[in-house]
Amino acid sequence: MIPNQWYVVLESRQVKKQPVGVTRMGERLVFWRDGTGRVACLRDRCVHRGAQLSLGQVLASGRLQCPFHGFEYDPSGRVAVIPANGRGAPVAERYHVQHYPTYEAHGLIWIWWGEQPPEGLGPPRFFEDIDARFCYATLVDRWDTHYSRGIENQLDVAHLPFVHDDTIGRGGRTLVDGPGVEWLDADRFRVYVYNRVDDGRPPRKPSEVPIPSPSGFHLEFIFPNLWQNHLGEQARVVAAFAPVDDGHMVVYLRFYQKFITFPALGNLVARLAMPFNLRVLHQDRRVVVTQRPQRSALQMGEKLIQADRPIVEYRRRRQELLEAAQQRDLAK
Ligand code: FES
Ligand SMILES: [Fe+2]
Repeated sequence: MIPNQWYVVLESRQVKKQPVGVTRMGERLVFWRDGTGRVACLRDRCVHRGAQLSLGQVLASGRLQCPFHGFEYDPSGRVAVIPANGRGAPVAERYHVQHYPTYEAHGLIWIWWGEQPPEGLGPPRFFEDIDARFCYATLVDRWDTHYSRGIENQLDVAHLPFVHDDTIGRGGRTLVDGPGVEWLDADRFRVYVYNRVDDGRPPRKPSEVPIPSPSGFHLEFIFPNLWQNHLGEQARVVAAFAPVDDGHMVVYLRFYQKFITFPALGNLVARLAMPFNLRVLHQDRRVVVTQRPQRSALQMGEKLIQADRPIVEYRRRRQELLEAAQQRDLAK
């Protein structure tokens, strides 16, 4: 996992008032909503004697109370009350657990995972052209692999006629022109797909394929874990790859549409697309969970081909971010 990034880790509807414990980023975390409805996230282990805070309860004050001896945590991870010492007794600084800044938007929850966030940390990014006029439905699927493999699969244009030969890969377009890769900034790129039936002509190079209008079909990725299939102005598939640990991930996959925007009907139309999306996703999952090693890396001995260009671009930037985090660690 790349440190010092905003990661989508949950959907909003998973966090209600009472605490919920999940594993993300290789760690047990507890989420809850404080008195104002804001999502809080702490390491799910009491500083006192290690009990799971997610078994506790949220008090009227919005604090999370440990189920064992009743220590009360505020959203910053600080213990505000140690009941055995008396409610009015001051609590020393050392009574606190790791806290993760959170952000909620678009029905998703992000955490800032890494060191203390920098001064003036901005919110995480999303696809800004997906506005409130879109209706959507979500499916959640657990994959037994590292999240980097899940992401790479969504950037992989050569697998379509093989993995999805009876769904989105029909037509035998096995030859891959390009694909085109366009970086929008350091942490965001688009992929333009030019697959075709093999007629004997060699594939065009990535530099030879056009960069089309952004309103048309393309794939887009925002580091560290957000992807969209921009089907067109009216329809998108968005996937967030939440890291669970080194061998597991959860994908939140959404179909967005604005052909039909009457609220109830619009959501129903989006829901109707989900069985097909799940079928496609499971075609991917069947193969991707078999890849070894589970975690991808820039130098890992795979024998890549021209069509893997988007995957190489992903790995290159991922490596840069990992190295930058290591440098910061060394400098400490
Ligand atoms: S273990 Fe949490 S209060 Fe004792
Ligand atoms: Fe696929």
